[in-house]
Amino acid sequence: MTLHLPLPTLMARAHAVKTATVGHRVYLRGLIEFSNRCRKNCYYCGIRHGNRTIGRYELTDEEVLQAVDFAWRNRYGSIVLQSGERQSAHFTARITRLLQQIKRHTQGQIGITLSCGEQSYDVYRQWFEAGAHRYLLRIETSSPALYAKIHPCNPTHDFNTRLAALHHLKTIGYLTGTGVMIGLPFQTIDDLANDLLFFQQMNIDMVGMGPYIAHRDTPLYRYHTLLPPPAQRLELALKMVAALRLLMPHINIAAATALQTLHPTGREQAIRAGANVFMPNLTPMKYRHNYRLYDNKPCLNDAPNHCHDCIATRIRCAGEEIGYGEWGDRTNC
Ligand code: 5AD
Ligand code: SF4
Ligand code: FES
Repeated sequence: MTLHLPLPTLMARAHAVKTATVGHRVYLRGLIEFSNRCRKNCYYCGIRHGNRTIGRYELTDEEVLQAVDFAWRNRYGSIVLQSGERQSAHFTARITRLLQQIKRHTQGQIGITLSCGEQSYDVYRQWFEAGAHRYLLRIETSSPALYAKIHPCNPTHDFNTRLAALHHLKTIGYLTGTGVMIGLPFQTIDDLANDLLFFQQMNIDMVGMGPYIAHRDTPLYRYHTLLPPPAQRLELALKMVAALRLLMPHINIAAATALQTLHPTGREQAIRAGANVFMPNLTPMKYRHNYRLYDNKPCLNDAPNHCHDCIATRIRCAGEEIGYGEWGDRTNC
């Protein structure tokens, strides 16, 4: 199995495939973490409902539009609106309104990805019609047994419901993104290999997968001593990126931010391993500390301008160029 090959061999092969298919471009998706309110209690996540140690926030429409404007002025091809999961008529209507405002503000030019968890078919369709054309919903792990270990056992955290949501997104016509965490307690190499096959079977358009990193205020933290050391988790994550590029040569793969927690150049290494999407953080500074999904999240004190310059340098250092002003959709199925 590919995941057993030495990392340099795998990376060189994946990079060659990437160059031949998606080329040397890296696309920017400006990430706006517009609210950390979440109804769920995933055992690994720092913004889970049960974590009372963080302040909850919600960006105003103006703050969202300012972040969008930054992305637009800096010729990012698209933005990602991300939040915890909430299901209410008020939340649905707010997103719809924001989508319409963003479309108007950017004259329909900026691509919009949503990442707001599981919603009904009708809600997904309403947002699609309002202008979102991509949706990110990580399956977290394609193994139902492992999924059950890292989530509470109740209908709000049901594997099959999440899977059905992914199918709904595809049926509606979204470019659909998913992903997994790598190096979870109890996770095996077989689980990870099956994750890659899951992406292929689902004919997924984009993948964001990164290392699991413990958060001390979460239930899964009690297993942190079982985790492989950071260097090993980084290697595994890079192997996953490279193996996915070989398996699905035209797919969009994000260089996950969590890689940078394990190593200062973790994201650049992912670009060399086959990733072609970078997600600069555009969340206003005052909120960032409260969107800590895991400990030691990078860029908490770096303003969007700073991250922008930093990322341009990182992409150049990885030997690639930025696809300014391009949506960067997957081109070939
Ligand atoms: N480590 C790494 N990734 C995490 N996420 C949530 N908590 C963690 C963690 N402790 C990821 C999940 C989720 C995405 C928004 O963040 O995969 O889908
Ligand atoms: Fe909420 Fe997503 Fe965190 Fe789960 S992983 S608690 S759904 S923000
Ligand atoms: Fe934020 Fe480098 S990407 S400081």
